[in-house]
Amino acid sequence: MAKAVREHLIKALADGSFVSGQEMGEQLGISRTAISAHIKALINMGLDIFSVTGKGYKLSQPLLLLNKKKILALISTEATTEIIPEVEVHSLIDSTNDYLMRRLPNQLTQGQVCLAEYQSAGRGRRGRQWISPFGSQIYLSMYWYLEEGLSGAMGLSLLSALAVSDAVQAVSGVQVQLKWPNDIYIDGVKLAGILIDLEGQALEPSHSVIGIGLNLDMPEEAAAKIDQRWTDLQSHSETVLDRNALSAKLISCLHSRLVQYRKEGLTSMLDEWNEHDLYLNKQVKLLTGERITKGICKGINNQGALLLEVDGQIKAIYGGEVSLRGDE
Ligand code: ATP
Ligand code: BTN
Repeated sequence: MAKAVREHLIKALADGSFVSGQEMGEQLGISRTAISAHIKALINMGLDIFSVTGKGYKLSQPLLLLNKKKILALISTEATTEIIPEVEVHSLIDSTNDYLMRRLPNQLTQGQVCLAEYQSAGRGRRGRQWISPFGSQIYLSMYWYLEEGLSGAMGLSLLSALAVSDAVQAVSGVQVQLKWPNDIYIDGVKLAGILIDLEGQALEPSHSVIGIGLNLDMPEEAAAKIDQRWTDLQSHSETVLDRNALSAKLISCLHSRLVQYRKEGLTSMLDEWNEHDLYLNKQVKLLTGERITKGICKGINNQGALLLEVDGQIKAIYGGEVSLRGDE
């Protein structure tokens, strides 16, 4: 109920006109006080709404909302995508990854996408929170069926980071750096992250959901909630970036990389990864719980493992509960 009311209010406010609390209340069969509480909730989600006595509520500027038709039209103009995936655009959602995971196994088609304007429970790796304000960022998840089982899931986070690099380069001309296993940086600061959710068995057909969170134009109030350095793509571009165009590019680049991975594995992507690797040949430390291993980053192998040179020996590190940090 609250979600339906808030979605209704967002639609009414979107073009930047005044919306009367009294009239909205009558339309929705709730009190003006209840409308006011919902407006407060929308402000907390990152919407910049103010009120003028006698006129009602208004957005400081009109919203440029995600538009499924535009996104699909843009994807279909891409020569690289053979299949147009199913795309759902949600206004308010808990988490785009959770939404697709709840639809497993029968309510999804290969490459199906869920995009949202806002996530109330956006997730990072290991239960961390992904700050997800309304209407200015990208929250995108794609479903991908893994015929070979979960053993084929190792490279997903790496190919997805490369897909983000492809899309960002195409839309803005900005070169990003990639940090094993799941982060995208600009000038050494985090721009985007990848979250992979899996269901299945090592050698049986399995399911994956690939989530991408990318900061496009971070509102100040949301920024204050992030406990590490971050950046957004708009700050690195002289032209105003279009969220629909970026979403379409991300979908087609991710789809192309997944098809490439199914055919060739990671082997044909290693050089590109190395070109973008944030720490290649640099001194790093690997955090595993309380344990710290220091070494030199030597890129990745064709299974997606991090290659770490420790005391002259190369160790392959296979994902899991580990974090990589610079150590210079
Ligand atoms: P690692 O994976 O190496 O541990 P990390 O510290 O970036 O790196 P992640 O789990 O990948 O951790 O990402 C989640 C973290 O990202 C959060 O704990 C928070 O510090 C940060 N974060 C949350 N929301 C955003 C956002 N919108 N933009 C940038 N960073 C964010
Ligand atoms: C990370 O850096 O730890 C990964 C962040 C991934 C965030 C995205 S936003 C879309 C999708 N839905 C989620 O709840 N998380 C991912």
